[in-house]
Amino acid sequence: MNPLPSSPTAHVSSQAPRFARIAGTGSYLPPRRLSNADMAALLAEKGLETSDEWIVERTGIRARHFVDDGVNSSDLALHASRAALQAAGRTADDVDLIIVATSTPDMVFPSTACILQQKLGVHGCAAFDLQAVCSGFVYALAVADSMIKAGSANCALVVGAEVFSRILDFNDRTTCVLFGDGAGAVVLEASAEPGILATELHADGRHVGILCVPGTVAGGQVLGDPLLKMDGQAVFKLAVGVLDSAARAVLEKAGRSAEDLDWLIPHQANIRIMQGTAKKLRLPLDKLIATVDEHGNTSAASVPLALDVAVKSGRVKRGDTVMLEGVGGGFTWGAVLLDF
Ligand code: ACO
Repeated sequence: MNPLPSSPTAHVSSQAPRFARIAGTGSYLPPRRLSNADMAALLAEKGLETSDEWIVERTGIRARHFVDDGVNSSDLALHASRAALQAAGRTADDVDLIIVATSTPDMVFPSTACILQQKLGVHGCAAFDLQAVCSGFVYALAVADSMIKAGSANCALVVGAEVFSRILDFNDRTTCVLFGDGAGAVVLEASAEPGILATELHADGRHVGILCVPGTVAGGQVLGDPLLKMDGQAVFKLAVGVLDSAARAVLEKAGRSAEDLDWLIPHQANIRIMQGTAKKLRLPLDKLIATVDEHGNTSAASVPLALDVAVKSGRVKRGDTVMLEGVGGGFTWGAVLLDF
């Protein structure tokens, strides 16, 4: 058994304050793209009606990507991770922590993070999954930030990866048109400069029932319903309130104000929720990064996917102040404020 992987040169003296900074981003979408017209045709085969007009007006979604049979979250995570490592100028050997945020793991166990580690061709570093549904990436980034600040990691691969197409009920038009598959990743490194300025995580288990996949595996059988259920209006109302309170709390913690923000990257579920959040912060809408139109809601993958698209398109640049926000099943929510 090899010892733990050697840490990358983190440029942090043992005396200096220690921060965590994003060194590179990456993302991956499976090639199969379904437009709203494709979804309408799929649902028509089941005797259900939907339309591009209804989906765009209510959600802002125009298309989503679905995996083919046999492709799992770890496969999407692998593509996104390789891209993030390349952008950071690192190799998988440099990584000493892997966290995969997912609600659609490859299997019950081992974790998708361990499967990803094996696919990256490395071994020895800590690897685990984190389950906070659509807030998963924000939770994972906050955990990696704490571990780096505590000195227990130097170079973390933080991934959101989902194959929500596997848990959609294609007989329920109120949910199946909303979600997509994909992965996003960042390399988070120890740094003498921030980096992540503040994080804010919350959950309220009183709302477990409004967004859930209430099935499980027992005795070789699937017990309960293994497909996604959502009370869309209840989620909508809660999401608008908690995204606003998390944004204000994380700004206050960091001693910053909304005027300091260059970019807001909220969970990509519904353009109306996202624009509502920006407006409450009095942010001009051109500071809002939105990829929900082309990705749909990719749950834990949505924030790192949107971040990578914004970085690759040249909008998010080094030194920009960025707020990431997650909200989802649990009910869970949180925010990360960072200087990119
Ligand atoms: N196509 C056509 N009509 C539809 C469809 C569809 N796909 N789905 C529902 N309808 C109909 C309904 O049946 C209803 O018809 P009725 O008035 O005759 O009964 C009508 O459209 C309105 O339905 P509502 O549910 O009231 O629509 P609403 O405006 O609330 O939009 C939506 C629904 C888009 C789901 C919205 O509530 C929403 O975005 N909620 C938040 C979802 C979210 O943010 N999730 C984030 C977390 S995800 C996670 O953690 C996994």
